[in-house]
Amino acid sequence: MRFDTVITGGTLVTALGRTRGDLGIRGEKIAAVGLNLARGNGHARIIDAKGRYVIPAGVDVHVHLDLPFMNSNSSDDYNTGTRAAARGGITTVIDFAIPYGQETMNQAVDNWFKKAEGIACVDYSFHGTITDYRRHLPELPRLIERGIPTAKEFMIYANMGWQSDDAGVFAALEECRRLGAMLMIHAESAAVLDLLMARVNNPKAKKQYGARLHTMTRPHFVETEAIQRAITWCEITGGKLFIVHMSTGPGTDLVKDAQARGVPVLAETCAHYLVLDDSVFERSDGHLFACQPQVKTKADQKRLWQGLREGTVCNVSTDTCTFTTKQKAIWKGDYTKIPMGMPGLETMLPVVYTHGVLKRRLTLEQLVQKCCTDPAKVMGLYPRKGSLEVGTDADIAILHPTRKFKVDWRQMETNADWSPYQGWELAGFAETTLCRGQVIVEDYKFTGRNGYGQFIPRKNPGNL
Ligand code: URP
Ligand code: ZN
Ligand code: ZN
Repeated sequence: MRFDTVITGGTLVTALGRTRGDLGIRGEKIAAVGLNLARGNGHARIIDAKGRYVIPAGVDVHVHLDLPFMNSNSSDDYNTGTRAAARGGITTVIDFAIPYGQETMNQAVDNWFKKAEGIACVDYSFHGTITDYRRHLPELPRLIERGIPTAKEFMIYANMGWQSDDAGVFAALEECRRLGAMLMIHAESAAVLDLLMARVNNPKAKKQYGARLHTMTRPHFVETEAIQRAITWCEITGGKLFIVHMSTGPGTDLVKDAQARGVPVLAETCAHYLVLDDSVFERSDGHLFACQPQVKTKADQKRLWQGLREGTVCNVSTDTCTFTTKQKAIWKGDYTKIPMGMPGLETMLPVVYTHGVLKRRLTLEQLVQKCCTDPAKVMGLYPRKGSLEVGTDADIAILHPTRKFKVDWRQMETNADWSPYQGWELAGFAETTLCRGQVIVEDYKFTGRNGYGQFIPRKNPGNL
């Protein structure tokens, strides 16, 4: 068989196991998995993967690129964000198309297509966002027709006009059940959170505690009560529910109990919740780390790693929502004004590889499962993405087992001028990344093309 590219001599790793072998690529697809595939393929590009792991490239199902948010605009757009993704071994990102004002959900999706087209360097998809359930739920069938069978509701962000109340969550889950769609939820308890924030809304507290107020006003129950409530509506309606960016150990326990009862709830966590804790807010630049929900404690990290191993937590994502130090500086001592979010696409696989696999919290197969295969399954992209099977997209990351780099934002593709992991020594950066058969990272450097990324339609979410 003739191939365009052959990846030879590597250890092929999937969620199910590892084996020595070659991958033969023709056009955009994996055409063969076997031995000695380079033989008789003199014209093929040969990528020597001896001593390397060859994995399905990562799938990040939670990003915010070019997002107007909190009086700012997230600074990684579809160009820098997807270049960062490529360098991090990720070839598919799923963003949230959010309606502003009276926009429809489908208008928001049109807007997000415009943000991506012509500049995205890896493949992408969108989730819808329901900010007004009476207007937006009737649009769900059209969204599904467009290959977008998932939509999110936020239980906070009233000031952005995005918040959903219980009726909205309940009605959306009913509709998801009817249509086979999946509802994603940002679970934090708005009413109690507002009360806790109002109690410290004075210059004295803001001066005394600074950015620490962000974590002081968000005790665990702000997340867990909201997760519990969302699970209640999920259990009653039978609609598929996906808890985004779960940050707490007790939240993980709630999801585990619900899953054991047969409730159709899934949950992701993010790389930062696995390795950062709230001591970051003691730093003089602690405000940079502010995101919602905020990073919690070491005990939460431990429970989230366990949740990944036991299956309660189905995937790791980034919640990339990058703001530069200049953008973050608009807080001027008032934690409520910090643009919330952090960069993450370039470092997700390295963080999980270094702190998961090398520290024996996860096997390499579990890393592939949680960062590549199961996110693709859960969002209805599998097996096209997240697999090494013949006939699927040749989206591949090649990793050196031990080679480490010191994280330095100056050498990264992200538009951030800081990194939550600045100075950390991480292995697991992609030495080579392929997206639909094209090499887009070579020797750790981005070599892809602006506009190469394509929209990938999805269907049947919520299945593992
Ligand atoms: O702080 C965060 N996570 N910013 C992005 C918006 C969201 O809630 O996911
Ligand atoms: Zn959120
Ligand atoms: Zn988010």
